[in-house]
Amino acid sequence: MRTRPLKVALLGCGVVGSEVTRIMTTHADDLAQRIGAPVELAGVAVRRPSKVREGIDPSLVTTDATALVKRGDIDVVVEVIGGIEPARSLITTAFEHGASVVSANKALLAQDGAALHAAAEEHGRDLYYEAAVAGAIPLIRPLRESLAGDKVNRVLGIVNGTTNFILDKMDSTGAGYQEALDEATALGYAEADPTADVEGFDAAAKAAILAGIAFHTRVRLDDVYREGMAEVTAADFRSAKEMGCTIKLLAICERAADGESVTARVHPAMIPLTHPLASVRGAYNAVFVESDAAGQLMFYGPGAGGAPTASAVLGDLVAVCRNRLNGATGPGESSYAALPVSPMGEVVTRYHISLDVADKPGVLAQVATVFAEHGVSIDTVRQQGKDGEASLVVVTHRASDASLTGTVEALRKLDTVRGVASIMRVEGE
Ligand SMILES: NC(=O)c1ccc[n+]([C@@H]2O[C@H](COP(=O)([O-])OP(=O)(O)OC[C@H]3O[C@@H](n4cnc5c(N)ncnc54)[C@H](OP(=O)(O)O)[C@@H]3O)[C@@H](O)[C@H]2O)c1
Repeated sequence: MRTRPLKVALLGCGVVGSEVTRIMTTHADDLAQRIGAPVELAGVAVRRPSKVREGIDPSLVTTDATALVKRGDIDVVVEVIGGIEPARSLITTAFEHGASVVSANKALLAQDGAALHAAAEEHGRDLYYEAAVAGAIPLIRPLRESLAGDKVNRVLGIVNGTTNFILDKMDSTGAGYQEALDEATALGYAEADPTADVEGFDAAAKAAILAGIAFHTRVRLDDVYREGMAEVTAADFRSAKEMGCTIKLLAICERAADGESVTARVHPAMIPLTHPLASVRGAYNAVFVESDAAGQLMFYGPGAGGAPTASAVLGDLVAVCRNRLNGATGPGESSYAALPVSPMGEVVTRYHISLDVADKPGVLAQVATVFAEHGVSIDTVRQQGKDGEASLVVVTHRASDASLTGTVEALRKLDTVRGVASIMRVEGE
């Protein structure tokens, strides 16, 4: 084993960073054996230097992250600051000064992944980011390496623990959205400002990263269609139950049937209770992958939290250190397929539409005609009437999103349709 240590600069020492240092310290001997050289923490960049940080030599702490990554003797920079800047500049500077990078930064990878991969390649360094998608769950490396010989057709995932906690609460207790969100906030599962989670921004960043790796195609954050979950109601859950389904916020990356394009989207959807993703409870994450040869695979586990996320960071650190000792780099960006990313209108799936209609003869026929005129075939219809008003629940066969949008626009114009109470996609069948 080499005695000269590999030097690691840690950028950020918050929820994730503090666990990274703890594991690096407590597992130092094992890590050295696994890597083939000891690993030394050479510096820790933070914003508030006076904060007490257990187990960290105060002489290593600095507020000058740029000087740390420019030192020239750093082998690996671990970026767990988050956000776009200064993380982006620090990572680029790290490559320029000879370091490889491990990052947990989904927002940055989804927005600037191509440029960062290019910088890594230009300088012959590694960029690893297992922790950026679904915390502890091994996903990036299985997609990039284990499935490199297969053809992935679909990735369907619960990649945000906060939203899964809220939806699971609504499902199991009958609570409304706000009540479940309040509980998630009180228990620390939701941030004071939950927008990034409940509006699907966090999941969309992860969908962009997953789609890019799964389909060997550049998928930018802007390519991902996104709908939040604030509109999901207790009534939607009752409807879902009647269909033998539950509701999850899903990140869905799909190759088109002809293989010529891909789509990436995030939105709430009904999935059958028999689907493995339906049994993912609480704040857990899971990603279901469908490929030509392997068939169906499911990856499940804690998608966030200091120690679970640090587990993924440490796995990357070991891999990058091994590469470094071998004078090699791991796989870089693979975007050779360069498939176009289709707009949401071209996505084909099933829909559950709940309409408030007048309770009188002929309404059902009128509604059915509108569906037929837009080429959307109806699978089932359920009608419940009271006091001259009725609710009509229509479940369709597979149709394009554009056809469904046209159908709903036309339905809204019918005198007998008082309102469209909800539209939800049905996935996982
Ligand atoms: N938390 C999770 O469960 C989780 C899961 C998966 C991925 N991630 C990702 O991991 C990354 C870190 O998340 P986190 O939860 O650990 O964040 P956090 O608790 O807010 O920690 C951020 C750290 O960065 C430091 N920092 C902020 N601005 C800085 C600057 N300009 N220069 C140097 N240091 C700076 C902060 O310093 P102070 O300590 O002085 O404030 C803090 O130590 C993010 O990209 C996040 O998306 C987190």
